[in-house]
Amino acid sequence: MRTGICIFMAAFIALGASWCGFVLAPMLQLGGAKQTVILQSADNWPQQRTGEATLGLQVYRAYGCAACHTEQVRQTGAAFEVTLTSLGTQKAADFKDFIKSLMVVPDLATSSNSIVGSLDKWNGELPKTLYSGDDGDVASALADHLKPVGVKTETRIIATGPDIARGWGSRQSVAADYLYDAPVQLGSLRAGPDLANIGVRAPDANWQWQHLYAPKSTTPNSTMPSFKFLFEVRAVGAAPSPDALKLAGAFAPAAGFEVVPKPEAKELAAYLLSLKANVPLYEAPFTPVTLAK
Ligand code: HEC
Repeated sequence: MRTGICIFMAAFIALGASWCGFVLAPMLQLGGAKQTVILQSADNWPQQRTGEATLGLQVYRAYGCAACHTEQVRQTGAAFEVTLTSLGTQKAADFKDFIKSLMVVPDLATSSNSIVGSLDKWNGELPKTLYSGDDGDVASALADHLKPVGVKTETRIIATGPDIARGWGSRQSVAADYLYDAPVQLGSLRAGPDLANIGVRAPDANWQWQHLYAPKSTTPNSTMPSFKFLFEVRAVGAAPSPDALKLAGAFAPAAGFEVVPKPEAKELAAYLLSLKANVPLYEAPFTPVTLAK
């Protein structure tokens, strides 16, 4: 009998400890997650999806899109860039000398070669990148020292990593991005591209429909399966439907017919268009390109 109790207790503790680690701890950390604020703006992030897009998440789930697609952009680091945008009243040659004299500042000494080197063949055209590297202290020291001399600079934070280099997003995915996803479609295999930012990359619903109907019609060598059953091929009525797919060549329906999305296809596309991760957050900062211009 005592062995029985011992085995029960051992199993109970082992399962209990893993429940605490896998369920309770994440729940305590993230269970109360709320909307956060977008950096340098008063807007909240993320916004609740439209009803159609919320239904689309279930379509995405039902057809196993997550078997081939992830929704998580990874980031391995950050780069800082200080760009000179205006010389004010300074002359380029004077500015070069000033930069050289600045290099005795302890914060800048380690990067002096690259900063001075970048100005070697410079003849005054703007904008000019003065520093580009992974040391945030150098970037802010440089910007601070240039402020009092009347030139204008812009410091940018750029997220870096293979996913970002592929164009899958401008920053890493963070917990807040998934606040309104139930269930979250993280995915674990990348037979196709990551979709965390597809709403920014391919914002046209008609393109999404066409790609779902016949992936090869938009992407010639695509190995993605066709989701034709989400569409209806029907005879053109009095007037062609405004939703009809713009298919050409071998993919076009017979004359007098048109391909229109069923409600599920519309919901799925609405969901895909809602997948955006293009704003800077406290936990994932970067400088949007639009602000820099
Ligand atoms: C068998 C694997 C597989 C499945 C399942 C799959 N896809 Fe894909 N998907 C791919 C591949 C491979 C590509 C890249 C080629 C292309 O663009 O067609 C791709 C590309 C895409 C793209 C374009 C991405 C870009 O960056 O241009 C979207 C959007 C997409 N898939 C959505 C979906 C949706 C929605 C589903 C579920 C209905 C789905 N996929 C199911 C393999 C798959």
